[in-house]
Amino acid sequence: MNLLLLFMDSNLPSLDQSLIWHPYTQEKNAPENVFIVKGEGAYLIDNAGNRYFDATSSWWTNIHGHAHPFIAQKLFEQASTLEHVIFAGNTHEPAIRLAEQLKTYLPNKQQKFFFSDNGSTAVEAALKMAFQYWFNKNEHRTKVLAFEGAYHGDTFGSMSVSARGLFTNPFKPLLFDILTIPVPNENNISDLLALVDQLIQEHAIASFIYEPLVQGANGMVIYDAAHLDLILQQLKSANILLIADEVMTGFGRTGKMFASEYMRTEPDIMCFSKGLTAGAMPMGLTSCAQSIYDAFYDDNKEKTFFHGHSFTGNPLGCAVAVASLAIFKSEKTLDNVARITAWNKKAASLLQQHDAFENIATLGTVLRFDIKTNETTSYLNEVKLKCMAFFKARNILIRPLGNVLYFLPPYCTTDVELDHLLQTALDFGDSL
Ligand SMILES: Cc1ncc(COP(=O)(O)O)c(C=O)c1O
Repeated sequence: MNLLLLFMDSNLPSLDQSLIWHPYTQEKNAPENVFIVKGEGAYLIDNAGNRYFDATSSWWTNIHGHAHPFIAQKLFEQASTLEHVIFAGNTHEPAIRLAEQLKTYLPNKQQKFFFSDNGSTAVEAALKMAFQYWFNKNEHRTKVLAFEGAYHGDTFGSMSVSARGLFTNPFKPLLFDILTIPVPNENNISDLLALVDQLIQEHAIASFIYEPLVQGANGMVIYDAAHLDLILQQLKSANILLIADEVMTGFGRTGKMFASEYMRTEPDIMCFSKGLTAGAMPMGLTSCAQSIYDAFYDDNKEKTFFHGHSFTGNPLGCAVAVASLAIFKSEKTLDNVARITAWNKKAASLLQQHDAFENIATLGTVLRFDIKTNETTSYLNEVKLKCMAFFKARNILIRPLGNVLYFLPPYCTTDVELDHLLQTALDFGDSL
């Protein structure tokens, strides 16, 4: 028995219930929280000593595995040196090193780096940068274009540019209006390009925000790079700022370091979080083109970007993000990404043959499929709880998006572990 478990206060689970409000959880009928005491590689270990495979990388954040020794070491070293300092008027090496190294992985246009706290704030900073870019240039452009079904976060700005629906209903009257277009596919692409053209003519569009190639919260909707590129080219020719929200897709998730690499048209602004720190520390980052930065660089102080958070540029987050980039090299992480990508393709063709599943698709380390169900509601679909319980009993933690089951594992996951995931999915299909 692990000493951690032996000395754990047995009152903690009931204290959790009485004190804590968990995210995205209807506390009234939620299953009991799994009490995690330790992370180890792709596994999470609970207070009874059960080892669970983390099939969703802890909300899509983890990439090299939990409690990675090199990350822990760098975090400790940084915490013992400088844990935090106000980032206005001061700077420090971890932030500079991170910007310097990350820049080498990004599309060439990305030249300047603005720090924040999480994915939503990375998006907020991007939207405000884009709005103020036009304001500073005295050009009246205030409309944002986004994809239907998009999810960009939970703050008011990021909710405004996300789909109206279950998550945003209570706030609908308070969100700013945006323009939307459908996600492209083979059948709608030519009409869609005509619609984009019309929207460009009719509206003063400041920016287009998109989750490149995979719409995460919308049910891991995967769409084609060539189609996205056509839309991006068209918007670019009207000088509309392109904001690639790579909060989920960044750092290898789609098979390349960044999903934006699949398109020829480069974004003007990019948003990062989650895998940025290998899932170890909360941090957001917004990068942008020199031309955007230049629109704020002025003798006129009113053109300043008046935005920042107490923990902007936190040295602990930066040190961990630099450590994660080093692991990409030392552990040849992208080779593992390629291995999982190839495995996913084989798994997709096996799932295809099971009649409990449909709409099977994969890109990089993301594998998604719908569980066929008669219910109409998607996110609140009851099959989700049934599925989670089935997988948990087989030591796998998943979090389906309604009837959409997906695997998005840490990159250290082995083929044997992937096989177990697939077998469990097939067994679940059989059980329906
Ligand atoms: C594409 C995308 N953007 C933004 C966010 C918001 O990130 P956070 O939850 O860190 O605020 C998410 C979260 O899942 C996301 O998937």
